[in-house]
Amino acid sequence: MTDTLRTGPKFADEGRGDPIVFLHAFPLDATMWDAERAELSRDRRVIVPDLRGFGASATLSAPSVLDEHADDIARLLTGLGIERATVAGLSMGGYIALALARRHPQRLARLILADTKSAPDSPDGRRARDENIELVRSQGVPPLVERLLPKLLSAGASPEVVARVRALGGRQTREAIASALAAMRDRADSTPMLAAIDVPTLVIVGEADSISPPAEARAMASALPRGELTIIAGAGHLTNLESPSAFMTAIRKFLDG
Ligand code: MLT
Repeated sequence: MTDTLRTGPKFADEGRGDPIVFLHAFPLDATMWDAERAELSRDRRVIVPDLRGFGASATLSAPSVLDEHADDIARLLTGLGIERATVAGLSMGGYIALALARRHPQRLARLILADTKSAPDSPDGRRARDENIELVRSQGVPPLVERLLPKLLSAGASPEVVARVRALGGRQTREAIASALAAMRDRADSTPMLAAIDVPTLVIVGEADSISPPAEARAMASALPRGELTIIAGAGHLTNLESPSAFMTAIRKFLDG
């Protein structure tokens, strides 16, 4: 085991074959990908990190710059002896996948960008991040998760999915959440570099995603030289949790196609 693997983010590494890395959303952790990990590790190598500060990586300090998470992933691939991998990121995970495409393009075999966007936060969005940082610092994580739930899931999400997201978000630390909010607030505009991403890229979006709406996903897919778009009917922002089988079908078709 190399130093990177000892000191970097904790991760699961299961299965054999073409490698795929899943990057989790905010305010969640690697367990949001449990279903994808179980299914795809039957015929692929599936690597699922808990980004620094989150989940099993909670003891590591959470960077307040998304580029640092992208660098962590590049180092993780090096430590595992993987030159190129498919990288799939949902929402914040997608922002990090785009940072990886900007900083380490040679590490990408394919990209999956789910419920994410290339544009940076608007001035109103930045103000909302500051309010949310204040809320987390003064009252803790659960009140923030309650505030975010109606945006993370559609009105039609099942009570089980709502409970899962509430539990997953509620167990993250204040430090990780505040750092990630600052990192997302200050993230770069990835739109200008979309035209330079020369790997096959699947853009997935929930029809009812209000954080990264279908119009932005469509624009992103059109700007990507090898982009394709899948819209998941009825799903909100966390598409893989709300519509796991439609999400898996889209990924399988892309990976096997
Ligand atoms: C996420 O799902 O990762 C976040 O909601 C994204 C964001 O707040 O911009």
